[in-house]
Amino acid sequence: MIDFSLNGRRQRCGDVSADTSVLELLRDRLGQTGTKEGCASGDCGACTVAIGEPGDDAGPDYHNVNACLTPAHQLDGCHLITVEGLADGKTLHPAQAAMVDCHASQCGFCTPGIVMSLFTLYEQQRRDQAPPLTQQRLESALGGNLCRCTGYRPIRDAALSMADYPAVAAIPSEHVVLDDASDDATAAHYAVPRHLAALRALKAERPQARLVAGATDLWLETTQQLKALDDLIDVRRVAELNVIEETDAGWWIGGAVTLARLTPLLAEPYPAFEHLMHRFASSQIRHRATLGGNIANASPIGDTPPVLLALDARLRLDGPRGARELALSDFFLDYRKTALAEDEFIAAIFLPRPASGANLKVWKLSKRREDDISAVLGAFAWTLDKGVLRDVRLAFGGMAAIPRRAPGAEAALEGHAPDGEAFAAARTALAEELSPMGDVRGSAEYRRIAAGNLLERLRLMIAADATTTDAVHSTTQVTLDAHAH
Ligand SMILES: Cc1cc2nc3c(=O)[nH]c(=O)nc-3n(C[C@H](O)[C@H](O)[C@H](O)COP(=O)(O)OP(=O)(O)OC[C@H]3O[C@@H](n4cnc5c(N)ncnc54)[C@H](O)[C@@H]3O)c2cc1C
Ligand code: FES
Ligand code: FES
Repeated sequence: MIDFSLNGRRQRCGDVSADTSVLELLRDRLGQTGTKEGCASGDCGACTVAIGEPGDDAGPDYHNVNACLTPAHQLDGCHLITVEGLADGKTLHPAQAAMVDCHASQCGFCTPGIVMSLFTLYEQQRRDQAPPLTQQRLESALGGNLCRCTGYRPIRDAALSMADYPAVAAIPSEHVVLDDASDDATAAHYAVPRHLAALRALKAERPQARLVAGATDLWLETTQQLKALDDLIDVRRVAELNVIEETDAGWWIGGAVTLARLTPLLAEPYPAFEHLMHRFASSQIRHRATLGGNIANASPIGDTPPVLLALDARLRLDGPRGARELALSDFFLDYRKTALAEDEFIAAIFLPRPASGANLKVWKLSKRREDDISAVLGAFAWTLDKGVLRDVRLAFGGMAAIPRRAPGAEAALEGHAPDGEAFAAARTALAEELSPMGDVRGSAEYRRIAAGNLLERLRLMIAADATTTDAVHSTTQVTLDAHAH
């Protein structure tokens, strides 16, 4: 039974198969067809809805979500808002009224999704009493919504003007959003453990059951490959997997912590990592996707693994036979093969605190800036000690069957001055030790050249820094590249 609110009205839906999406539930079962299906893969945003989850006293925290990739069972206890629920009688919500007045819709297929992203932006601004919208905030909110005919300028105009419209009454919710159930609720074939002990017990009983977190990757198996996902264990609500624990040495980040929650934590210790998170997929995806899912997915082009490898991160794996720790560099074994046993899960990820003078640089190369997966990602960590490179860790995504470090290139730089000779040796070593695959995102040749160029870019950047500052760096390098070149 899924018990939730839809546009303020309580809904109880029984007999929902494990792999039903929110979009299917809305359109096929509840007759709410305002939410559209475009790509069914998280790329277009036509299916965007808002989900309200437990907030603080200021009210529920609504975020935009791709209904095509969200399991219907994740609605339990939540408030789902769709485009049908925004207007107050005949009075349009400011997000809708501004879209009409700015002529921001033509064919209209993308419009409900865009309106829903604007709605969550509006609600977040209002809830947080945030200052007027910046361009960056706006792009971040709308980066997951494609419109092929109107053009983005009128949509942007609508976003910038919606705060000037009179507010409509907040949508009441018959069934309050808060979900603090402490038991370990289990529906047939879709288990929702709330505690580590329950997750371990489920994994002992059903080791073959697939784990689902944000579903932003797993769900593509049903929407794109038409596979049945009929035995799922949802880790999103396991309390222990949602904890971020700070220690003197760093941070243990629970495996089910979403990227949206993780991002602000990174700003101070690792601004380059924080910037990368704004280039990770879209707002819709970042609010669901988890750090544990990004690692367990073991994609050669996942964004966080190379950065975490460069930072020497560790993992805590857990399961019915207990917990164990291992270095992230020992986790990825082969293409989509990891050190996880069938009955294990990623409980937490350890992010070390930056050492004094440590630098981190991250460059993501993709075909477009928003909502795109990397062709190549380079993450580089080093310190500069009396003009010599130390603690060099160079990690790449898109350059092998797994995200991995480049030990030959690291050795060519370690203990050397960051000059042309050392970097030429590093580029030669890199070309020998990494053999990228070619695919639609980039040929093997492109990737090889691009990765070498990133190393050259690193050299130029260190040289430019040395001429502009004579002080020793005490903080992490900040910048992140624009998109593809
Ligand atoms: C449109 C779109 C854009 C994307 N853009 C990017 C991008 O820019 N960069 C990028 O790196 N990725 C991107 N992705 C991929 C995806 O969003 C990420 O990999 C995401 O981090 C997956 O996390 P999740 O919580 O959604 O995992 P899920 O989809 O729920 O699970 C993914 C896999 O991990 C397993 N799993 C989940 N949690 C655990 C756990 N705690 N322990 C063990 N196994 C677990 C699942 O069983 C499954 O096999 C994109 C996806 C889409 C659809
Ligand atoms: S239908 Fe395209 S993102 Fe969901
Ligand atoms: S109005 Fe046609 S795709 Fe956006």
